[in-house]
Amino acid sequence: MKVVIIYFSPCGSTGKVANFISKDFERLDWEVQLLNMTKDLDLFPNGDFLKFINRIESHDLLLIGGPIYIDHLHYNVLDLITRLPKADDISHSSNAGVFTTFGKITPGVGTAEACKELGKVGRKTWAALEVDSEHCVSRNIDYPISEGLPGDEVLELVKDFVEYLIKVVDDKERPLKDIESKLVSSFAEFPNLADERLVTINSFPDIEFNYDLCEQCYICVDKCPVNYLVIKDGYPTMLPDDICVHCTNCLYYCPNGAVVMDLYDKKSFYMKQLAKQKLEPDGISISRLIK
Ligand SMILES: Cc1cc2nc3c(=O)[nH]c(=O)nc-3n(C[C@H](O)[C@H](O)[C@H](O)COP(=O)(O)O)c2cc1C
Ligand code: SF4
Ligand code: SF4
Repeated sequence: MKVVIIYFSPCGSTGKVANFISKDFERLDWEVQLLNMTKDLDLFPNGDFLKFINRIESHDLLLIGGPIYIDHLHYNVLDLITRLPKADDISHSSNAGVFTTFGKITPGVGTAEACKELGKVGRKTWAALEVDSEHCVSRNIDYPISEGLPGDEVLELVKDFVEYLIKVVDDKERPLKDIESKLVSSFAEFPNLADERLVTINSFPDIEFNYDLCEQCYICVDKCPVNYLVIKDGYPTMLPDDICVHCTNCLYYCPNGAVVMDLYDKKSFYMKQLAKQKLEPDGISISRLIK
């Protein structure tokens, strides 16, 4: 039996979960194809989703994972799902699962969106995992949220997720319905759901470089998950088309403070979100398995 695990992980947490899941499947003698969207040259910056999708091998189960940005599953992941070929009985099974990581504040409607889009391409989502993880933006300020997560604390949930999916695929425990119907109410819980793409473009601080401080190490270029940063005349710079996902990796990893990103910019949603979190130190949401 074979599982294909596709994931996007700008800052690494979703990737960690993907690897935990992969190890569990291998432990149970399943074959695994891990397909990482992050930094993939077909996808970024060219957006050649079909070329990426053509690399998906035939499988009995498809898992899709990504981070929650502004209450949504990241649009790069949703874009990929909408382009998947319809499920068939030969190589693309209709069995699916979803996993998301979020920075303590909320997993939002990410799982519900993924199920809905997977449903449109003929997949049934049997289970989903929502994992409380380090808030990547909070790495840059003095009150890190869910620092170091996910780690061993999530392994039990991962095990339950994997074992349950295997039972469903093996027909040992097959529910009448997939989880999509259980999640439709999620949308009602977020009446002011923002258009993530618009918020990203209009409300997040842009990055700039202070070339006086830059020592041309290119760590920022290496850490950019969407290959938006390139080297020009020896210095890092942005591509003309803005595909920045505002993950803050470049800011966090630059050893010389040469990446400038004003997290306290008035138009920024970052601080609003994080301030909300600070008021409730235990956070609003915890990891959970939906099945
Ligand atoms: C632009 C942006 C928006 C985010 N929005 C949310 C959010 O709505 N809720 C939340 O709990 N975490 C939010 N986060 C935190 C990420 O979901 C979290 O750090 C996630 O684990 C990142 O996954 P990755 O490490 O695989 O990139 C946001 C992070 C960024 C950069
Ligand atoms: S990480 Fe900082 S110092 Fe290194 S190339 Fe990028 S901006 Fe320059
Ligand atoms: S430019 Fe910086 S903030 Fe934007 S996607 Fe790349 S690493 Fe993330």
